[in-house]
Amino acid sequence: MTESERSKGWAAYYQQLRDRPPRKTLTTALDAFGDAPADALVIDLGCGDGRDVIEELRRGWRVVAVDAEPEALKQLQARPLPDGCDVTPVLARLEEVPIPLGVHLVNSSFAMPLCEPQAFHRAWERIREALPAGGRFSGQWYGPRDSWSDRPGMTFLSRDEALALLEGFDLEMFDEEEADGVTPRGNAKHWHIFHIVARKR
Ligand SMILES: C[S@@+](CC[C@H](N)C(=O)[O-])C[C@H]1O[C@@H](n2cnc3c(N)ncnc32)[C@H](O)[C@@H]1O
Repeated sequence: MTESERSKGWAAYYQQLRDRPPRKTLTTALDAFGDAPADALVIDLGCGDGRDVIEELRRGWRVVAVDAEPEALKQLQARPLPDGCDVTPVLARLEEVPIPLGVHLVNSSFAMPLCEPQAFHRAWERIREALPAGGRFSGQWYGPRDSWSDRPGMTFLSRDEALALLEGFDLEMFDEEEADGVTPRGNAKHWHIFHIVARKR
């Protein structure tokens, strides 16, 4: 797939999911903080056109919104954003972007598995190091029975591998979903997903 085909694919994806509510992993993590911490800061890795970012801003968090796709950030910035909100869009790969000091939450919905294994593990190492005690990670990882598991350049983890990576965290959500369904682009797919909300001890 050329870069331009990939960009067109993502643009269609953003368009199609535009009006969906924020992910449950994100709202669960935000709820778990109770009142947002003073200077609450979240980095959203693979933010797309801002499905979750809008909710983070609505709840008064400062947001660093990261995506590797220019169209994602363009569409995010074209959305009606809450007055006085504090959002920093960053065009970068999630496995390379610096995670800001003072971050309370790292949210990455349906994006980390799109990294090849070395990049995935590098990203996770950096996330776990950057989070303070009491900080949270929310997002999705993919399991080995997902029908995309034969695609190169992506990461799939067994339940045990996922749990091992989450050692040192209290699991506030670890829901394993396995079901036949269709992708947002209308293709049949077997989903094998771990939905995660984890609090660093
Ligand atoms: C499936 S979409 C999810 C978007 C959004 N988080 C959501 O839940 O709707 C995945 C997003 O991750 C971005 N992405 C994929 N690989 C990435 C990487 N290595 N670094 C940064 N962004 C990446 C894509 O451009 C796309 O916007």
